[in-house]
Amino acid sequence: DEAIRLGDLARQLGVKVQELIKSLMQLGIMATINQSLDIETATVLAEEFGYEVEKVGFSEDEFILPKEEDNPEALEPRWPVVTIMGHVDHGKTSLLDAIRESKITTKEAGGITQHIGAYYVGTDRGELVFLDTPGHEAFTAMRARGAQVTDIVILVVAADDGVMDQTREAINHSKAAGVPLIVAVNKMDKENADPERVKRELAEFDLVPEEWGGDTIYAYVSAKSHSGLDDLLEMVLLQAEVQELKANPAKRARGHIVEAKLDKGRGAVGTVLVQEGTLHHGDAFVCGLYHGKVRALFNDRGKNIKSAGPSMPVEVQGFDGVPEAGDEFVAVQDDKVARRIAEERQTKQREKDLAKETKVTLESFMAAK
Ligand code: GTP
Ligand code: MG
Repeated sequence: DEAIRLGDLARQLGVKVQELIKSLMQLGIMATINQSLDIETATVLAEEFGYEVEKVGFSEDEFILPKEEDNPEALEPRWPVVTIMGHVDHGKTSLLDAIRESKITTKEAGGITQHIGAYYVGTDRGELVFLDTPGHEAFTAMRARGAQVTDIVILVVAADDGVMDQTREAINHSKAAGVPLIVAVNKMDKENADPERVKRELAEFDLVPEEWGGDTIYAYVSAKSHSGLDDLLEMVLLQAEVQELKANPAKRARGHIVEAKLDKGRGAVGTVLVQEGTLHHGDAFVCGLYHGKVRALFNDRGKNIKSAGPSMPVEVQGFDGVPEAGDEFVAVQDDKVARRIAEERQTKQREKDLAKETKVTLESFMAAK
């Protein structure tokens, strides 16, 4: 249901609107200046004026501003985003919980932790945002789409278990992303903890500890007893300082989905990690195949907030469908544009799915013959 406003068409054709209205009347169509014409009628009309109409593809680039280098003066320091990765059960979530528990300041107290997959932690030395990665899904999805959401990776390895499949996967991910990695040897409280073995195994992946002449930073922690946490945080903050992370908060928001779900009471909700610009209540947005308008923003303590700047994880309400982890989230000028882009993406997706189906059907048909 494509349409063009009479006024816009007149401008494009370089004729007066009145002339268009007159021609339309000759075609038996009564029209007003604010009316929209379907593409067929517009084509006939344009041809009356000696134009040939070529249907050009819709390009969302017209609406989504390209990522541009920001003016250095517009950049402001932002919190580092730290992703915690590692093998199943090695203690990623426990470690994050322990860090949060040990660092809750009076300022934040009162709120109840919301499980939104991304968390803010304030320390005396600096502020950080952590992403928890269950099974690396979000991180894998984001990497597959070429998105970079993390500044530093904490690789959690259980001291009693050593390097496992997903440890190796995590190492590959962070290497491919070119992100600095800090090792947290966890479960040091366990009787059978063997940090030397962990170091030996990791050294095979070029993660040679500083004490062995390498340049990989190791921290020895226990999420259970909370030991070594300050040390770990100190190292992460030092690493972050070197990176001098900055972003421009004064533009439309752009970020990625960390986690999303369908909530019984609230509809589709997604945790957005804002990476640049500022997201405001009421902003129209596109995200993957969906669009929406920010109806409410909540921080990781369930507090209703009005806006979220760079590096802030927020739970957003107002999606018209559940996006996927790793989907890019982009605020756009208005609802109309948001809807238009999402519709276009869905059409393209349907075409792709259909092409796939047709191929499969054809292949099974050939195979059956
Ligand atoms: P997935 O999200 O499933 O990949 O696991 P995870 O890496 O987040 O591990 P999680 O934090 O869920 O911890 C797994 C188990 O290890 C739990 O039973 C924790 O209580 C235990 N655990 C985590 N950290 C420690 C630790 O420092 N010491 C001891 N003794 N147990 C720990
Ligand atoms: Mg976990």
